[in-house]
Amino acid sequence: MNLFKSNAFTIEIGSILDSSLNDLLLKTYSHSKVVVIVDENTHDNCLEYLLTSFDSLREAEVMLLPVGEENKVMEVCFQVWQALTDYQVGRKDLIINLGGGVVTDMGGFIASIYKRGVDFIHIPTSLLGMVDASIGGKVGIDLGPYKNQLGVFSHPKNIYIDKIFLETLPEEELLNGYAEMLKHALVNDKSQWGKLKKISSIDKLKDETMIHDSVKVKFEIIEKDPLEKNERKKLNFGHTIGHAIEGYFIDTSPVAHGHAIAIGMLAESFISMKQQRLKSEEYYEIEQLITNKFPLIQLDEVAIKEIIQIAKNDKKNESGKIFCALLNRIGNCSIDNEIQENEIADALFYLNKFAISMN
Ligand SMILES: NC(=O)c1ccc[n+]([C@@H]2O[C@H](COP(=O)([O-])OP(=O)(O)OC[C@H]3O[C@@H](n4cnc5c(N)ncnc54)[C@H](O)[C@@H]3O)[C@@H](O)[C@H]2O)c1
Repeated sequence: MNLFKSNAFTIEIGSILDSSLNDLLLKTYSHSKVVVIVDENTHDNCLEYLLTSFDSLREAEVMLLPVGEENKVMEVCFQVWQALTDYQVGRKDLIINLGGGVVTDMGGFIASIYKRGVDFIHIPTSLLGMVDASIGGKVGIDLGPYKNQLGVFSHPKNIYIDKIFLETLPEEELLNGYAEMLKHALVNDKSQWGKLKKISSIDKLKDETMIHDSVKVKFEIIEKDPLEKNERKKLNFGHTIGHAIEGYFIDTSPVAHGHAIAIGMLAESFISMKQQRLKSEEYYEIEQLITNKFPLIQLDEVAIKEIIQIAKNDKKNESGKIFCALLNRIGNCSIDNEIQENEIADALFYLNKFAISMN
């Protein structure tokens, strides 16, 4: 079992059967109600394994969320809060979030707000959830096109990362996790970029060492800067533009978070090159890898204008100015860089031409 331990929470990587979960349920929550929050896919693919592996979960109440980012909204939270109330869940009870980033973000938010906070743990079941979303204590929901506009910092008691859940994860979802792994490498770890670049098949991402190394980057950064005052802003690389793209499409033809972030990283790498921070050879190396793995999306002028408007309302901005993390080189980035609307437009028009040429 690989462990990352902070004052607020512990991450355990390895078989959940060998983890501290059994002891935790027996010692800390033996008299508590336990609620397991799942979405439709983790209900069908992951729940049975969890419930049948731990005797103390046989009586657990299961609450089902509708699948998808478009359901990471307040209306769904209201329904779960009502269900928790009807089931008389109290402050000493436990919520287990079993799912991808949507379930851990929203389940964590629901648990943190309900009765001013009940204990929760995360069992991430998507690669993206394992290497990124379940770690760091950001829990929240979307508001219209604005991603994670409502939320709090609140850590789960524990995070259990067991690659067994990846067995049922569709390949395109592995790719979404790959995007955040690439981000960790690009902002902090050139050697990891080298390894991720070379993987012979997407299945190699299920390797526990790969997962561990990516978790390590995030863990070390959030330990130094838990509330994102400084270094943690690095982890927003690709997200100013990526979140705006994700938000723009959310009600029409949703783009997966990892996919949107991959395009956002490309656009922000382009801006890094144009600002003469990132060498063009490194930009083209990033472009080649990302365009090889992720389809680019065609964006017309109206879409680009709207995406820029959404980016202007990003929660990372200050005084109406758009700020983002930019790359200095692969494995190193700087934070709090102001970028102009025309720089975003240039990057997106460039990527649009690329998308058209690939069709
Ligand atoms: N809190 C954070 O720090 C943070 C960081 C990164 C991303 N996020 C958030 O995470 C979300 C994206 O997470 P995601 O990519 O996991 O999306 P997701 O939760 O929607 O999961 C992707 C898809 O995979 C399915 N799935 C998950 N596990 C499965 C399994 N084991 N078998 C079969 N199907 C499975 C889900 O039902 C869903 O259809 C976004 O909302 C994003 O904003 C949060």
